[in-house]
Amino acid sequence: MPLHNAPRRDERPLSVNPFLGPANPVGGMTEAPPKHRMPGAPMAPATAYQLVHDELMLDGNARLNLATFVTTWMEPEAGRLMAECRDKNMIDKDEYPRTAELERRCVSMLADLWHAPDPAAAVGCSTTGSSEACMLAGMALKRRWARRNAGRYPSKEARPNLVMGVNVQVCWEKFCTFWEVEARQVPMEGDRFHLDPEAAAGMCDENTIGVVGVMGSTFDGSYEPIADLCAALDGLRERTGLDVPVHVDGASGAMVAPFVDEDLVWDFRLPRVTSINTSGHKYGLVYPGVGWALWRDADALPEELVFRVNYLGGDMPTFALNFSRPGAQVVAQYYSFLRLGRDGYRAVQQAARDVAGGLAARIGEFDDFRLLTRGDELPVFAFTTAPGVSAFDVFDVSRRMREHGWLVPAYTFPANREDLSVLRVVCRNGFSEDLAALFAEDLARLLPELRRQPHPLVRDKNAATGFHH
Ligand SMILES: Cc1ncc(COP(=O)(O)O)c(C=O)c1O
Repeated sequence: MPLHNAPRRDERPLSVNPFLGPANPVGGMTEAPPKHRMPGAPMAPATAYQLVHDELMLDGNARLNLATFVTTWMEPEAGRLMAECRDKNMIDKDEYPRTAELERRCVSMLADLWHAPDPAAAVGCSTTGSSEACMLAGMALKRRWARRNAGRYPSKEARPNLVMGVNVQVCWEKFCTFWEVEARQVPMEGDRFHLDPEAAAGMCDENTIGVVGVMGSTFDGSYEPIADLCAALDGLRERTGLDVPVHVDGASGAMVAPFVDEDLVWDFRLPRVTSINTSGHKYGLVYPGVGWALWRDADALPEELVFRVNYLGGDMPTFALNFSRPGAQVVAQYYSFLRLGRDGYRAVQQAARDVAGGLAARIGEFDDFRLLTRGDELPVFAFTTAPGVSAFDVFDVSRRMREHGWLVPAYTFPANREDLSVLRVVCRNGFSEDLAALFAEDLARLLPELRRQPHPLVRDKNAATGFHH
């Protein structure tokens, strides 16, 4: 939940349309409801609906949101199933055994998709999203390291650390803060915007619980070289005896690469990869809140982290941060797997990648911009202003595109490329070639005005975009 502690700015009550108030002969509202306190008296459901509905009209159009990786459209049949399941609590395995079974099948399908050596031996669970899945995977890494170091942990000398690229999503910084693990981050260097395998191996020591590799990077859509990372860690083991496991954060890419980059080896085919997460609600094509975490076998997930809930008179192992959680998203995930199959997912992801590649190429044709990535890994690309462009910057572009309804985040890269600010476009299912053409046309129409600016106009770069990793 966001932490809302801002001072109240607007003490006026909600404004009530006369149709709901004095002009409504049947129980119209006589008093406008307050905004920040619960109203004293109830109101008619239709009135409450209208008030909430009207306020939500000011939200952006989710389909034009090119900032988010999260699914913004599903088929009506999926929506229907979700509506049918919205009252089911995922934790009530005993009451909803079929929902529990669909979750189990999804885990098996993912284990197979990600080449677990023995899919039947892989263990996994659904989560609210990748962040929770990463917390669980990180906890398993930490616990396994603590077991291996039982003789010296806890102690001052044994402070656990996790190695990752500086480009990781904020969930990994959260994990390290919440679970008291030192975050060791490999900086960006020159035109390398993600982790360098040898540099990552160089940061490992006897207190390293694992290394996180990202498929692909939130900053620019590039895949991190997971096989090279594993090879560098194999080398480390030969040299030093340190045997460091790898977790793959496949929030987006674990649902892209298996379909459109089948030859790329990044998953459980690499023996060093012990766990993988993905967001069902990103390229898994389900509305938000579902994620998945899988471990290659039971050894990779310490038994003491597993809790048991009642299930058909027996007990079922669970691993989650929350207790209650909606079952509808898990059902929708199963629907998508069943409905699309491998060929369907391939068609959807390939289409997104074609759109990304086409739009990136079109933007690359403008002299004003320089592409950092081309949308040929995740269907996501980042671009910046070309050298010599001084009239405007990426923050101006983001602000002006928003006037046309396009939400395109602009942000500054982390260490050692703080000098670089970029725009990022995420192409998802539903962002068609036609919409991409409109995007390029709107950008082309804006450019003459931007070129005439005396200098970049956005002063508060942090306020310029609501986008934070
Ligand atoms: C690489 C990566 N990891 C983790 C996350 C967090 O995922 P979620 O929003 O599902 O919690 C994201 C979100 O963009 C991501 O890109």
